[in-house]
Amino acid sequence: MRYLPTMNGVITLSEFIINRQADFPFASGELSSLLRDIEIAAKRVNREVNKAGLVEILGATDVENVQGETQQKLDVYANDVFMQTFQNGSEVRGVASEENEEFVVFDNDVSRNSKYVLLMDPLDGSSNIDVNVSIGTIFSIYRKLSPGDELSESDFLQSGDRQVAAGYVIYGSSTMLVYTTGAGVNGFTLDPSIGEFCLSHRNMRFPEQGNIYSINEGNYEAFELGLRRYLDEVKSRQMTSRYIGSLVADFHRNLIKGGIYIYPKTLSAPEGKLRLLYECNPLAYIAEEAGGVASDGKNRILSAEPKELHQRIPYYVGSKDMVEEVEAYLRENEDSVPD
Ligand code: AHG
Ligand code: MN
Ligand code: MN
Repeated sequence: MRYLPTMNGVITLSEFIINRQADFPFASGELSSLLRDIEIAAKRVNREVNKAGLVEILGATDVENVQGETQQKLDVYANDVFMQTFQNGSEVRGVASEENEEFVVFDNDVSRNSKYVLLMDPLDGSSNIDVNVSIGTIFSIYRKLSPGDELSESDFLQSGDRQVAAGYVIYGSSTMLVYTTGAGVNGFTLDPSIGEFCLSHRNMRFPEQGNIYSINEGNYEAFELGLRRYLDEVKSRQMTSRYIGSLVADFHRNLIKGGIYIYPKTLSAPEGKLRLLYECNPLAYIAEEAGGVASDGKNRILSAEPKELHQRIPYYVGSKDMVEEVEAYLRENEDSVPD
């Protein structure tokens, strides 16, 4: 594969996608167009995020989403922008979103023939919107299984192993788009002066070992014993604790620096908090493509068979050695009753 740089040596995301398409001789170009739709929607959301303090877009709406969580205005805005872009782009047959109870079907002449479905967390880290902390968007793409133009919930309830592409956008100190189509993970930074995502992080790899652990330790008393013992151990080693409360931001930092992100089950939430389809699977696909590991504490996330759209699952993701170590702690203390 050859990447032809533009005149100034920069490879834009659009150029990268076109070059990559040549690697898949039978590809129809639909997936490439879909990735470009995501790029366009991400730029639009980024524009609003950047001026969020100046316009009437901060704060909560008076509605709750399907998870019973208060929707922020930017949650709704991001969901609308991505939905509209996909509807106009016609590259997906339907979309399931964390913000919608049911999946949405696109029924125009072009999208009726589309072979893909998309799942997304349009705005991750909602609690950080009002305080200028990094937030994100997570997406996951599958080939639909139903024949012809049919579409059913089972098209969205596929195991993460069947993803054909996944990625995230992080609206941070700079805005980045990171994605995989199963041939490594690449990251693109938005250059605001030209309005283009430019290749900045080629072939991203999780360091096998790391020194950062990311978990909401305020819930310590509600964790299972094995996890508590693991946390006691990492503290005795004086490892670094970093937790922002935006999964995308915590994941992204750990991918670059080496670390583990944990959202475990707790006494009151035996399935944890994060959603398998919108958050865990896409980041698990990226993690594995980057040499990392994603687990529910026992089993591989990408092998889980989803039962419902908004299903939650405990989540351990990051550097290989770190995830394997905490899994060993959970295994060894499995039968112990918490004190
Ligand atoms: P979302 O904003 O999409 O609902 O996701 C929030 C998630 C995740 O991004 C973050 O890591 C976690 O919730 C934080 O939860 P706690 O506040 O319980 O730590
Ligand atoms: Mn989220
Ligand atoms: Mn969200």
